[in-house]
Amino acid sequence: MLNFIEDIQKNNNCGLEEAVRIALRRVVGAYVIVLLDKDNPDTIIAARKGSPLVIGIGKGEHFLASDASPIIEYTKEVVYVNDYELAILKADEIILKNLGNEKLTPYIQKLDMELAAIEKGGYDHFMLKEIFEQPDTIFDCLRGRLDVEKGTITMAGIQQNIEKLKNANRIIMIACGTSWHAGLVAEYIFEELCRIPVEVEYASEFRYRNPVIHQGDVIIAISQSGETADTIVAIEKAKENGAFILGVVNVVGSSIARISHAGAYSHAGPEIGVASTKAFTGQLAVLVMIALKIAKEKGTIDATRYMHLLNELHNVPEKVKEVLELSPGIRKLAIKYKDAKDALYLGRGYNFPVALEGALKLKEISYIHAEGYPAAEMKHGPIALVEETLPVVFIATKDSYHEKIISNMQEIKARRGKVIAVISHGDDIIPKMADDTIVIPEADELIAPILSVIPMQLLAYYIGVAKGYDVDKPRNLAKSVTVE
Ligand code: AGP
Repeated sequence: MLNFIEDIQKNNNCGLEEAVRIALRRVVGAYVIVLLDKDNPDTIIAARKGSPLVIGIGKGEHFLASDASPIIEYTKEVVYVNDYELAILKADEIILKNLGNEKLTPYIQKLDMELAAIEKGGYDHFMLKEIFEQPDTIFDCLRGRLDVEKGTITMAGIQQNIEKLKNANRIIMIACGTSWHAGLVAEYIFEELCRIPVEVEYASEFRYRNPVIHQGDVIIAISQSGETADTIVAIEKAKENGAFILGVVNVVGSSIARISHAGAYSHAGPEIGVASTKAFTGQLAVLVMIALKIAKEKGTIDATRYMHLLNELHNVPEKVKEVLELSPGIRKLAIKYKDAKDALYLGRGYNFPVALEGALKLKEISYIHAEGYPAAEMKHGPIALVEETLPVVFIATKDSYHEKIISNMQEIKARRGKVIAVISHGDDIIPKMADDTIVIPEADELIAPILSVIPMQLLAYYIGVAKGYDVDKPRNLAKSVTVE
């Protein structure tokens, strides 16, 4: 890129800024470039496409980063640079232009986060801090939106587009990794409450497939960082085909928040640990509220069920505190199973995606090979893996599948698999079968994934720590996958 720009400068006998504009009109792919003009050493030229670029506005200085969190200790005023924009920075001036050399007005945003949010706050790791922040982050996500007294959910981005949402032919959830698992839980929720058909798509597949998208289709794009390249391109593809894009994002001002037609933030605060934890439970809380709001407007939920779920959601932060009190016991379990070579995670219904998420957390943090499955899928093959050294984690909280999952557990025990079961208070059957149990507060099956995922996060964390790994920066992983 540099040689290309220098060639343009020579061949066109133009200044660096002009040469950069010409070059960026011809290059393809994702990039962030920051250039110091040796002829004007007080000038920096920066641009981006596909990858994030944030400029922090200081007193007589500017800061450039791919994310706002490293900037917060210097300034709260930032400008998010969009694709095909050029920033020309001098110590006390910021000029924004498009590649057509037209001046743009920089949109200065105030960061709503504190320095403490990006510090460990006395915890050994950001991951543990973020797991223990969940009572507060879920409360923050509900605050100002969920009003149990009035029986209302206030979400401006949803209300303003309620006609499109409630009359959607189909909802397509698009995401990657942990956010994709949130989409899978949401599939169960939206189909049950809103009676709208839902599909859950891996963004990396959706963007290259020739998907059938109709007018009236709604895309819900889920992302913690709001900068995941595959999800951004999948959104652009769906937009080109006329779909309405609703973004569920954690990072305020991020690309996905800016390219979506409307959206809702999960307000989980900065998530520093690579393994997504509090953002996942925030995504679930937001998706439940969106589904309840659409169902209420559509009349596909009766008043009793609606109020019951509002109360259940309202009680989640307190119940999460109870789950977190189990961490010493979960730590003991982690030490017991840390030398496992493989692991299976099983769940049914709403807990099936939690099994996938539990397996992903263990893989990411402890490098133990783990797979998540719908429990009934076992007998169609994976049960061949079961023997006495294989830990099988069941997410078996009380729900409409409970009886079924007990028989799945018997199938595993019959082959001497080691069963670790996450169960609800008052379950007096499974403790007699399982090798180890983690007993969490009871909740409606639709809400239970927000609770049942937390022992999964803690188990992976403590196994990773017991194995001496850097749980905040696991090998081979980035917090935000901004390139393909
Ligand atoms: C989850 O722990 C991982 N960090 C990863 O799978 C992540 O969920 C995925 O890259 C999607 O990121 P996003 O939510 O920021 O789009």
